This record gives sequence, C-alpha cells and structure tokens, in this order.
Amino acid sequence: MRDTSAANNDKSTRSILYPFANISHLAKNPPLVIEGGDGVYVTDASGRRYIDGQAGLWNVNVGHGREEIKEAIRTQLDKLSYYSLFGGTTVSPAIELGEVLTRMTVPEGMTRAFFSSGGSEANEAAFKLVRQYWRQRGEPTRIKIISLKRAYHGVTLGALSANGANAYREAYEPLIPGFFQVETPHAYRNPFTSDHDALGTLCAELLEREILYHGPQTIGAFVAEPVQGAGGVIVPPTNFWPKVREICDRYDILMISDEVVTGFGRVGNMMGCRHWGVQPDIMNFAKGINSGYVPLGATMMNSKVADAFTTDDDTSFSPAAFFHGNTYAGHPLACAAAIANLKIIEEEDLPANAGTVGAYFIERLKEVQTRHHNIGDVRGLGLMIGVELVKDPETKTPFELSENFGARIADHCREKGVLIRNLADTFIISPPLILTKAHVDEMVDVFEDALKAVE
Ligand SMILES: Cc1ncc(COP(=O)(O)O)c(C=O)c1O
Repeated sequence: MRDTSAANNDKSTRSILYPFANISHLAKNPPLVIEGGDGVYVTDASGRRYIDGQAGLWNVNVGHGREEIKEAIRTQLDKLSYYSLFGGTTVSPAIELGEVLTRMTVPEGMTRAFFSSGGSEANEAAFKLVRQYWRQRGEPTRIKIISLKRAYHGVTLGALSANGANAYREAYEPLIPGFFQVETPHAYRNPFTSDHDALGTLCAELLEREILYHGPQTIGAFVAEPVQGAGGVIVPPTNFWPKVREICDRYDILMISDEVVTGFGRVGNMMGCRHWGVQPDIMNFAKGINSGYVPLGATMMNSKVADAFTTDDDTSFSPAAFFHGNTYAGHPLACAAAIANLKIIEEEDLPANAGTVGAYFIERLKEVQTRHHNIGDVRGLGLMIGVELVKDPETKTPFELSENFGARIADHCREKGVLIRNLADTFIISPPLILTKAHVDEMVDVFEDALKAVE
C-alpha cells in the first residue's frame, strides 16, 4: 500500500478521509472547495458560481443561505445552543417540531417523532423500534427486515444491512443477520417484462413469496424508498406500493417508508408515499427536513406502533421504554432550522414547484435524448431525476467503468458552471426545489454540450 499522505501537498486531501472515496484517486483529483451558497447557486474558493444540480446531497430543498433559517438558528443560539432530551429534560424547538411533523403527516397517521442526526440513524432507530414493537406485542420472532435490491438506507450497520447494492456492503461483511432483499421494480432494467403494471404485480408477488418462504411470523417489517435514489432514481410502477401495503396488511408486517430523500417535496408531493396513496406505519426523515442547515433525522410512527410502547408500567426502566438515543437527538439548532425550513416549504408550496419544474426538466431531457444515442433512459418524479448513459441503447450495454464516461461529462458540466452528480454512468439530478424553468434550460444546454464534447 502506498502512503499518499507524505506525497500529497494538497491541503484538502492531506488530512481528511473523505466519504465514499479512494484516497489515491482524490490525491490526484482534489475535490472542489465550496465556499458560498445563495439560492440555487454555490460558489467555489475562487469565486466561480455553479448551479447546484445536487442540492448539496439532495437535501438543500429550500436553497442555500435562506435568511429565515439563518435567523431561526441565530435566535435559538442566543437562547440555548444545546440541551439533552435524555433523562427528563427537553428543549422547546424539539417539542414544537414534533407538533409540526405530526401535523404535516396527518394523512399518513403519524403520531410521534423520534429524533436523531441523519438518515442512517433514522433508519437504525426504525429497525430497533420494529424489533421492540414485536416483543411488546408478544411476537419476538418477528425480527427480519425485508428491503429491495438497489435500495439505499444508509451506512450504519443496520441501515447498511438493508441496502440492496453489493458495492456498499461487501467490504463490511458480515452484516446484521435477518435482513433480506427482494427484486426492485426497475422498468428500464429487468429481465421480466416491459409492461409497468405487470412488473409492479410481479415484484409485489416476489415479496409475498419471500415472506412465505421465511414464514410471516419471522418478518418484522418491509422498508423501501418511495422512489429509489442512490440506486439510480428508480420510479416504481403505480401499482407497486399499494400492492405492497396490501401484502404487509395480509401478514401483519410493518411498512417503513424511507423518506430521507423523498420527504418534504422532492417528488412533487409533500411525501413520497403520499404520491403512491399509501400509509406506512413508520416514516424516516432527514435531508429535506431542514435542508441540511444543521444535521437532523426523524423516525415517525403511527399510533399502532406508538401504542405498543405505552403500557400500564410507568416506571422509567420498564421494558416498554425505547432504549435508544443519540446525544444530538432533537438538537435545538437543528429543530429551529427545521421549523423555519418546513414553513418555507409549505408557504412557497415547493412540492408543487418540484412537480411542475421537474416535469419540464424530464421533458427537456427526453428531447435531448432524441439527439443523443448514448442516453439510454431518462426517468424521475418531481425534481428527483436520473439519466442513464449507455454505450448501446439497443442492447442497453453500459460503458466500461474504465471509460469514465459519466465522470467526464460531470467534469465538463462543472467546467461550465453546473454541478451534477454521476453514479458511474447514471446522473442524479436533484436540485433545490426553488429551481425555475430558466435554470432548467441552462442546465440542459450545458448537459447537452458536455455530451457532444465527450461523445
Ligand atoms: C433513502 C436514504 N436513506 C438514508 C440515507 C442515509 O442518510 P445519511 O447520509 O444522512 O445517513 C440516504 C442518504 O442518501 C438516503 O438516500
């Protein structure tokens, strides 16, 4: 193994181990240092401006530098920077945010929020809630969690165990026992059918078969993203989620909606599961909950789940106590930011803007697809968009990883002032939800120029 630290003179890569990154690669390709942000724009250390086509990491829903959020954080900071939610104390912003979140999820029937610091932790809490819920209900064998292939639920060992892509898992095996993945309904890449409805039915049936194979009495919950994000922006057929809800009901299995990306407007609806017309038992939030101004996660549950934790035993060490929590759970600055952020999302009706501008974005990209055979698929919902580049559109043959096709296009876009993120050859477009059609035109033109240059 090479010691890259001695040879590396670039301060940005000398002392930090970056997430999801190879040290040797970054030493040669130092990251762009982002210094400023304003609305849909960010600026780098040299003052160059970019449209933030990633909204940070699909989280800055209301845009950068919003005065209302900064003010809320400052006001809270002047009062109290931190106090704990453990051991009989709490803080006002957490109390208020709990009320806001339960109000905003009335259609889903959520009645309680459990706070953490991000998406992985929100999922982690959900899985522990599920296991304890079934113990409380007198069915302790229901410990297994089923998720989808290509799913992304985070990086902590529990969340990672629910992920459905080997790339994330294999260096960290063995993971937590009791996690299983079933086929995801991926319209563009599946060996079964090109009929969306038939695909939704088939994948729901495969889930049911997996449940029956294990025995329903061993399954605690099913978890999925309403639209798969890091797996490549995979929008399921319309019938999939309702069928999954039916199956979960048939076998009394809890349904968890991982709304870390889809929550708070991204898909053109306030909630991802609301788009599909289903009510999960647990919803996990992070990212858009406060647009990333201060780290925050939340795991919400309906009364069916919450009631199992409310027993006649009112001692603090009752087996019904949820023995889980992080120091920064319900951090006052994060909750104050969330309250201000959610107010903006509601008052500016950002879900509606994401729906309209997202549909226009997809239409424009499909038009570009007619001129470029390397665009295999354009897909998405709201401002959660994927563009899959392929070597041969007839056979859907991908590029060799060594060709770095997607990365070269992303670099070109960056040169021209647009930040978009490629996962190999699939582009993930997830800008702030305040994006306008004029921004879309600029982004699409830059993307097409990059395609022309690299093709
Ligand atoms: C659907 C989903 N769940 C969970 C996570 C993990 O969130 P975090 O990175 O905040 O731990 C992510 C992150 O991208 C995500 O996309």
